[in-house]
Amino acid sequence: MSSRTESLWHATHQLRSFTPLSGNHETDIAIVGGGITGLTAAVILSRAGQRVTILERDRIGSGETGNTTSHLTEAVDGRYQRIAKDFGSDGARLVARASREAIDWIERSICGGVQCGFQRLPGYLYTEREWDLEWLADELDAARTAGCDVVWDDHPPTPFPTRGAIRWNNQGQVHATAYLEALVDQALATGVRICDATRVVGVHDDEPCRVETTAGTVRANHVFVAANVPVNNRVLLHTKLAAYRSYAIAAAIDPPEVSGLLWDTDNPYHYTRWQRLGGQTYLIVGGEDHKTGEEVETEACYDRLLTYARQRYGISEVAFRWSGQIIEPADGLPFIGLNAMSQRVYVATGYSGNGMTFGTSAGMIVSDQILGKPNPYAELFDATRIKLLASAYDYVKENIQVAVHLITNRLTSIDVEDQPIQALRPGDGGIFESDEGKVAVCRDATGVIHACSAVCTHLGCDVGWNEAEQTWDCPCHGSRFSPDGAVLNGPAVGDLRRIPVTTLAR
Ligand SMILES: Cc1cc2nc3c(=O)[nH]c(=O)nc-3n(C[C@H](O)[C@H](O)[C@H](O)COP(=O)(O)OP(=O)(O)OC[C@H]3O[C@@H](n4cnc5c(N)ncnc54)[C@H](O)[C@@H]3O)c2cc1C
Ligand code: FES
Repeated sequence: MSSRTESLWHATHQLRSFTPLSGNHETDIAIVGGGITGLTAAVILSRAGQRVTILERDRIGSGETGNTTSHLTEAVDGRYQRIAKDFGSDGARLVARASREAIDWIERSICGGVQCGFQRLPGYLYTEREWDLEWLADELDAARTAGCDVVWDDHPPTPFPTRGAIRWNNQGQVHATAYLEALVDQALATGVRICDATRVVGVHDDEPCRVETTAGTVRANHVFVAANVPVNNRVLLHTKLAAYRSYAIAAAIDPPEVSGLLWDTDNPYHYTRWQRLGGQTYLIVGGEDHKTGEEVETEACYDRLLTYARQRYGISEVAFRWSGQIIEPADGLPFIGLNAMSQRVYVATGYSGNGMTFGTSAGMIVSDQILGKPNPYAELFDATRIKLLASAYDYVKENIQVAVHLITNRLTSIDVEDQPIQALRPGDGGIFESDEGKVAVCRDATGVIHACSAVCTHLGCDVGWNEAEQTWDCPCHGSRFSPDGAVLNGPAVGDLRRIPVTTLAR
């Protein structure tokens, strides 16, 4: 398998770049993050006459929207049986309706007349296992009660036998970066200012709000942190979230006779779809999720995904492979709205694998809240909720794991003292003990050795080396860093402290 990781979307549609912020700036609304959530809100708010500035750490689309597989569906990962149990049948109905409206908004407000690969098609939650049939029948009932247009289908469009599927009619798919480009076009047309390479390092809920960036301070009446994970919430919200990595591969393939979105009932589940691009059809298969920072053999995740795709779809060669971050909420639903103890700072996170639709909903909900309009979904997704009855088990489990990481980081030593740093091969990394404490040392593909403090700049857990992505990943809340320590994924906003290699080499 090719060792390069780049998503099909980035490889086939380059997004334009923008100049960074320079100096101080005033605006009505500052949006942190240029993914689907931030851009959707920017378009809606600027259409409503607000001055909007997007502050993007890297480039538009460099986050998870550029890593998605871009199924647009009401078949949410939280599953309707569980949502109805925990949030009531009204809650389940609202989730289905919000997802449906998000797909409609993507189609009507942005994709009409624009080439973003938008397509309506059915989605199938299928099983290959006899013992999942009863659960699947219950999910069909729950989805129907929630108002989804669903039927039982004995023959989903898989080239291998299944035991049957729930078919959701009228779902969607879109080319992720082409869609972001269409959002960017709309945003620029209504006067949105976009600043790339502008990392937000602090958000203060004053009047006006102050957003500290690496390139200057922005003052705004409202701030929307649309950074996939909150970068302004030190603890509270993070205890209700868990970061997982999910893997995807794309392979050139003959077009199928019947297309659709496919999800199996494995745990973690596999998600599959096809995308036609410039006369070529690609099969896109995703899955093999694991908690960020907890899988040592990350290359093996790609290997398992390839084996799955070979066995089921007969692919021979992978054209693109990539992975990305999925943020799981403790109680199964995203957190969208005012941040805790805030009057003017909003957050949106915890979308599971449905962030293309939930991110769109979040852009719509937060825009309504900022504009002072009622929104039917605001209460259900309230970002400050602690629904312990629903989420007690997951909440406690995830936080015990974080506590274990924090404690064991401090008490145990991953002692590789006897191994000379110079023995690292290109692509290898590890944690070394030194007078500086625990040091994260790796040798990059060009042979250069980098050394940083192993202590994550968010809340102090130790990072671990991700061989497949060549990154330092934190198991506590999913922050990720480049080989030389630059932050790639929040909630951390600061880089790992760099350490001169000369002080370590013996
Ligand atoms: C492999 C994979 C497959 C997926 N498949 C699907 C799918 O089929 N359907 C679906 O609905 N969802 C899917 N998802 C989930 C979905 O893609 C994401 O939830 C969604 O794209 C998140 O959008 P966002 O705008 O909130 O975040 P992002 O796209 O991550 O955008 C956030 C932006 O904020 C920026 N940022 C972060 N910190 C800062 C800072 N401190 N200062 C300034 N900027 C900052 C980042 O650089 C980034 O560009 C998938 C995700 C993955 C990883
Ligand atoms: S300690 Fe929170 S992400 Fe590392």
